[in-house]
Amino acid sequence: MATTTLAGGLEGVVAASTRMSRVDGEAGQLTIAGYAVDDLAPQATFEEVAYLLLHGRLPDAAEHTAFARDLASRREVPAIVHTVLRDAAAVATPAMDALRMAAPLLSLGRADDPDDHALTAIAAFATIVGTYGRYRRGQAAVPIRTDLSHAAHYLHQMTGEVPSPERARGLETYLNTVVDHGLNASTFTARVIVSTRSDVISAITGAVGALKGPLHGGAPGPALDMVFEIGSADRAEAFIRAKLDRGERLMGFGHRVYRVRDPRADVLSRAAERFYANGGERGLYDLARQVEATALRLLRERKPDRRLDTNVEFFTALLLHGLGLPSDFFTPTFAVGRVAGWAAHCLEQLKDGKLIRPQSVYIGPTGRRY
Ligand code: COA
Repeated sequence: MATTTLAGGLEGVVAASTRMSRVDGEAGQLTIAGYAVDDLAPQATFEEVAYLLLHGRLPDAAEHTAFARDLASRREVPAIVHTVLRDAAAVATPAMDALRMAAPLLSLGRADDPDDHALTAIAAFATIVGTYGRYRRGQAAVPIRTDLSHAAHYLHQMTGEVPSPERARGLETYLNTVVDHGLNASTFTARVIVSTRSDVISAITGAVGALKGPLHGGAPGPALDMVFEIGSADRAEAFIRAKLDRGERLMGFGHRVYRVRDPRADVLSRAAERFYANGGERGLYDLARQVEATALRLLRERKPDRRLDTNVEFFTALLLHGLGLPSDFFTPTFAVGRVAGWAAHCLEQLKDGKLIRPQSVYIGPTGRRY
């Protein structure tokens, strides 16, 4: 019998090769298809980054225009999606559940064409989440605009207003920052599903389920809640100490791969600072930085042998709050960005990959008789 070694949580296991992104947890670097995240995310359009992942290189001007037009033509969702979202809103369904219910409907009337599924999901997630934001607040959906960039389209769907260039840029930087991140749990989920030669919409639907959990994409809401609950810098230490004494985790800190500060936290912290410097809530930004410093100090005190640093979720919360998104829409907004990574990974898996099928070690009883 072959010997097997159990790697709990698959930690340290390499399960795929990819051209999408490289995560260097020791150095704290994230490279997206060859570009450092802090170079690419604040400058590129979301359409460029999605194209980069799908095609392995940035588009030229004509390709950029054609790609943006193709995505814009896929913004309209089937009528049944609106019915489901309205019913979901009527019973106050959390937004990630509503997205998970709506996502599979995107395959309605579509053949099992991986490229078509991939582009449709990338385009339509913004419509689904934005529209659901309106239904949840008792508002009507706004008509689709195809003349807006992807990021502006999302904010327009959510608020009914065309966002300022600064707002659209702030969101675009966020979407680009979270677009891909190695073999994270939701991307792995998508690759496992599509590795069976299932369809891309199925894979993306599964990925939404994986992203929803608080140990993956569900942390930004609670991270900001903590800042609000603390309220003023002088209360931070007692509040955080009490939380750690109760054995609770601080949302927005710690990472499976990064042993130093998450490089995405820096990109988003700069984007948030730029944004808040011009807005009215500068005090909130400063408070968040003070809470962060206290949290890091106390985590180091508690866990001197395990480096727990700020992760992407902490500044996600601050930036998305500044953009006017309600906290229950932080994780779905993450999905609006990450769906491009999922889609590109699915196409890569279909092209190069084999069935993902690990083994388990049986630890139950043996020799029982019925
Ligand atoms: N707050 C307090 N303690 C934390 C912590 C946090 N945010 N993250 C990890 N720890 C502690 C654990 O309690 C554990 O302590 P123990 O050994 O005494 O039991 C130790 O550090 C190791 O944790 P572990 O769960 O093994 O690390 P991991 O690599 O599996 O966890 C996360 C990674 C992200 C799941 C974890 O850091 C976490 O839960 N963070 C908060 C949620 C979050 O921000 N998620 C978004 C990730 S981008």
